[in-house]
Amino acid sequence: MTSLKDKTVLVSRRVPEKIRERVSQTYTAILNDDDRLYSTEELLSKADGVDGIMCCHTEHFNAEVLAKLPDSVKIIANISVGTDHCDLAAAKKLGVVVTNTPDVLSDATAEIAMLLMLGAARRAGEGEAMMRADAWKDWSLSFMVGTQVTGKRLGVIGMGRVGQVMAQRAKAGLDMEIHYHNRSRLSPDKEAGAIYYDTIEALLPNCDFLSLHCPATPESKGLMNAERLGLLPRGAILINTARGAVVDDDDLIAALKSGHLAAAGLDVYNNEPNAHPGYRELQNTFLLPHIGSATKETRDAMGNRALDNLDAFFSGDEPKDRVA
Ligand code: DGY
Repeated sequence: MTSLKDKTVLVSRRVPEKIRERVSQTYTAILNDDDRLYSTEELLSKADGVDGIMCCHTEHFNAEVLAKLPDSVKIIANISVGTDHCDLAAAKKLGVVVTNTPDVLSDATAEIAMLLMLGAARRAGEGEAMMRADAWKDWSLSFMVGTQVTGKRLGVIGMGRVGQVMAQRAKAGLDMEIHYHNRSRLSPDKEAGAIYYDTIEALLPNCDFLSLHCPATPESKGLMNAERLGLLPRGAILINTARGAVVDDDDLIAALKSGHLAAAGLDVYNNEPNAHPGYRELQNTFLLPHIGSATKETRDAMGNRALDNLDAFFSGDEPKDRVA
């Protein structure tokens, strides 16, 4: 590969050691070893004169920020599959290339979806808190009774890479029956016996569990609102590892309070890291802090994939994961 050392890359968050080495060897890298979240002003000032930015979903490139981006910046290589923090249409208009990191986090994210499903159904959060507080005093037949998962119907909204892995694992490991909605129906080999619905409204009454795997877009904002939550059977359990924006927080909290939903397992929230306080106050929520892709293997793979995209772009090739 031609030397890319004359290209300067701003890496907005601390990256795994192997990725730090690779980016520093290949480029003139501006690193953030303290991992302090930059304000928009800081980010823009650090971007002055750089050729590319490697960033995460914690950096927000809306139209206003993109308009202020120094002209030198030609590419934003996300270390994330989600790109809802970037205004792709605005980037396209400005001629700034944007890439993401699909595929490599599907297993890790599906693992967390599975953990949330089991944890929410079997009241793992409550049990764990009780043990830590030394508050377990008795055992009885009615003690901490939850919802059995094995053999139940799992609904998936968004049968992309993560949704498909979740469906496979749930079917193989827990004998679940898979029902799904996706923009387009999968081929029979990918569908693997899953039952397709061409509308979300048709899917929802057939789900004991519902796992969200669709991207956050203007169209999917608040997708799970009171009306749609009301279409789930009483006692259903909602799992969200996609983005907080696809759920209306007040409506979900109301459904959990009323008992219409038995529980929810959430890894992602609106306005992260300031999740709606209502979730914390409920016993029937199982909550994680956006750790779907947080394994060593996956974080290395995400960093390498972002660097592959940067390398391709600066070598004059089309980056594999270009989204704008
Ligand atoms: C992703 O890759 O989108 C994960 O949510 C982490 O940002």
